[in-house]
Amino acid sequence: MRTRPLKVALLGCGVVGSEVARIMTTHADDLAARIGAPVELAGVAVRRPSKVREGIDPALVTTDATALVKSGDIDVVVEVIGGIEPARTLITTAFEHGASVVSANKALLAQDGAALHALAEEQGRDLYYEAAVAGAIPLIRPLRESLAGDKVNRVLGIVNGTTNFILDKMDSTGAGYQEALDEATALGYAEADPTADVEGFDAAAKAAILAGIAFHTRVRLDDVYREGMTEVTAADFASATRMGCTIKLLAICERAVDGGSVTARVHPAMIPLSHPLASVRGAYNAVFVESDAAGQLMFYGPGAGGAPTASAVLGDLVAVCRNKLSGATGPGDSAYTQLPVSPMGEVVTRYHISLDVADKPGVLAQVATVFAEHGVSIDTVRQQGRQDGGGEASLVVVTHRASDASLNGTVEALRNLDTVRGVASIMRVEGE
Ligand code: HSE
Repeated sequence: MRTRPLKVALLGCGVVGSEVARIMTTHADDLAARIGAPVELAGVAVRRPSKVREGIDPALVTTDATALVKSGDIDVVVEVIGGIEPARTLITTAFEHGASVVSANKALLAQDGAALHALAEEQGRDLYYEAAVAGAIPLIRPLRESLAGDKVNRVLGIVNGTTNFILDKMDSTGAGYQEALDEATALGYAEADPTADVEGFDAAAKAAILAGIAFHTRVRLDDVYREGMTEVTAADFASATRMGCTIKLLAICERAVDGGSVTARVHPAMIPLSHPLASVRGAYNAVFVESDAAGQLMFYGPGAGGAPTASAVLGDLVAVCRNKLSGATGPGDSAYTQLPVSPMGEVVTRYHISLDVADKPGVLAQVATVFAEHGVSIDTVRQQGRQDGGGEASLVVVTHRASDASLNGTVEALRNLDTVRGVASIMRVEGE
């Protein structure tokens, strides 16, 4: 074994960074044996140096991340700061000063992955980011390496733990969105500002990364269609239950049947209780991958949290250190197919539409005509009269597969019918 240690600069020492530092210390001998050289924490860049950090030598702590990265003898920079800047500049500086990078930064990778990969390749460095998607769950490496000989057609998953916790709570207790969010906040699952999670931004960044790797193409955050889950109601869950379904916030990346394009989207959807993703409870994540030869694979586990995310960071650190010792770099960007990303209007799926309608002769026929005129085929219809005697009924229509554009046209026309008092909800049905 080489005795001269590989030097690691840790950028960020929050929930994940502190766990990375802890595991580097407690598992030092095992890590050295697996890598073939010891790894040494050469510096820890933080914003608040006065905070006491158990197990970290205060002499290693600095507020000058740039100087640490530029110090010239750093082999690997571990970036767990998050956000676009200063993370992006620090990563590019690391490449230019001889270091490879392990990052957990989904937002940055989803936005600027191509440029960062290009610079890493130009400089002969590694850029690894297993921790950026679904915490501890191995996904990037299986897609990039284990499935490199196969053809992935679909990636469908729950990639945000906070929203899965909220939806699971609504499902199991009948709670409304706000009540379930309040509980998630009290238990520390949801952040004080939950926007990135509940509006689907976090999941969309992960979908962009997964789609790009799975289909060997370029998918940016802006290419991902996104709907959050703040509008999901207890009534939607009641309706899902009647259909033998539950509701999940899904990230769905698909290769078109003709192979000539891809789509990536994040939105709430009903899935049958028989689907394996339906039984993913609490803050867990799970991702279904469908490929030509392997068939269906499911990856499941904790998608967030300090230690689980640090596990993924450490796995990357070991791989990057091994590459460094062997004088090589690992697999980099593989976006050679350059497939276009189709707009949401071209996505084809099933829909559950809940309408408030006048309860009088001919209404069902009128509604059915609108669907027919837009080429959307109805699978089932359920009508329930209201007990309040107001002459209104709830009409729930579930369609066969139709394009999003056709469905939107249908809903617009339905809204213009005098007998349709309101469109209570529209939800996609997936996983069948
Ligand atoms: N906020 C994310 C989640 C974890 O709830 O899954 C980090 O991506």
